[in-house]
Amino acid sequence: MSQQDWIASTGQPLRGSLTIPGDKSVSHRAIMLAALADGVSRIDGFLEGEDTRATAAIFARMGVRIDTPSASQRIVHGVGVDGLRAPDGVLDCGNAGTGMRLLSGLMAAQAFDSTLVGDESLSKRPMRRVTAPLQQMGARIDTREGGLPPLRVHGGQSLHGIDYTLEVASAQVKSAVLLAGLYAQGETTVREPHPTRDYTERMLAAFGADIEFSPGHACLRGGQRLRATDIAVPADFSSAAFFLVAASIVPGSELRLQAVGLNPRRTGLLQALRLMGADIREENRAEHGGETVADLLVRHAPLHGIEVPVELVPDMIDEFPALFVAAACALGPTRVSGAAELRVKESDRLASMATGLRALGLQIDETPDGATIHPGPLRGGSVQSHGDHRIAMAFAIAGQCSQGEVRIADIANVATSFPGFDDLARASGFALRDA
Ligand code: S3P
Repeated sequence: MSQQDWIASTGQPLRGSLTIPGDKSVSHRAIMLAALADGVSRIDGFLEGEDTRATAAIFARMGVRIDTPSASQRIVHGVGVDGLRAPDGVLDCGNAGTGMRLLSGLMAAQAFDSTLVGDESLSKRPMRRVTAPLQQMGARIDTREGGLPPLRVHGGQSLHGIDYTLEVASAQVKSAVLLAGLYAQGETTVREPHPTRDYTERMLAAFGADIEFSPGHACLRGGQRLRATDIAVPADFSSAAFFLVAASIVPGSELRLQAVGLNPRRTGLLQALRLMGADIREENRAEHGGETVADLLVRHAPLHGIEVPVELVPDMIDEFPALFVAAACALGPTRVSGAAELRVKESDRLASMATGLRALGLQIDETPDGATIHPGPLRGGSVQSHGDHRIAMAFAIAGQCSQGEVRIADIANVATSFPGFDDLARASGFALRDA
């Protein structure tokens, strides 16, 4: 397939009321837990992204019937915690680190062998962070040299609970251990150096599991069954983030983003943007399937550079590409530190953003765990997405404030998390076209 590129340039002030697609993290987990539950679960607001569809396809291959009555809806006919069938080939997680890491915990506890594979980007991402605690629980998982995918998971092992303190703040690792813990003998406890998103814990509870959790701590007993339930997936804050930044930096903009999920472990960018002077209001707060949602009303405002508080980093871990663009258009430098995890995302996001912004004319000082962004006029030029959806979308925003056109190479992966981003962006005023 030929590579798809975009050209972004200065558009109109951004206007309108946008519906952002469903949350990726919640959609993955909803499919997984619904598949393992006893009974039929309905998922509304499911993200029709490549990542989450890959997860649904994996469960279908293991004998779970999943109906799609209409776009963004799934009816999942759960098979029970012990009802998955051995797949007849490898399980392809596509680009999804969440899919592969969470599944590693689940597959480690099954009676059959399985192999988890991913695309080129996922095949470079570290998996020892999950295989190490799972091996402590009694799992047998082989990786490629260096702890990289594919993961060959040996079934038929009996797992036992552990008390595990995470080395990196990672919801994916926590979730892998908890999902394995559901099948383990005794209790499994996970402790975190900094609290991370707690969707697995909340959703296990929604499916009737007895799980104790508080920020930074989760504990469950093995051998429990799950009860089918209906899940309403909120709009993904990480997708909304691109529009929050775009409307903040394009003069004359005023956008409403409807019913966005505001789980506190996700909204670090809101705080960072407000520290930079952004004008973002929350209206129509409501509870939506156990998650707080609100409309976000964002108006253009002059931004100034900040030192991003280190304690916000885990709560905005997916939002740094967007933050870098906000910083590029602010007054005065912005400093990011404590964010070494960005180097092992879908691309090395510190390097991808630094290289791209430099290509547009800015000075960026990179450090091992962060960067200082020195703002200035964006000249336009050519940038690479490095096959990373969030890098592609970040530079689409940068184009709205550039003096010249920004050509963004290799944008196909945007469909992993935000199908229809370009249409929504154009409808709100972006100048963004296929190259
Ligand atoms: C996710 C957790 C985060 C995040 C990813 C989704 C999840 O990864 O970056 O996009 O759904 O649990 P880490 O757990 O590696 O921090």
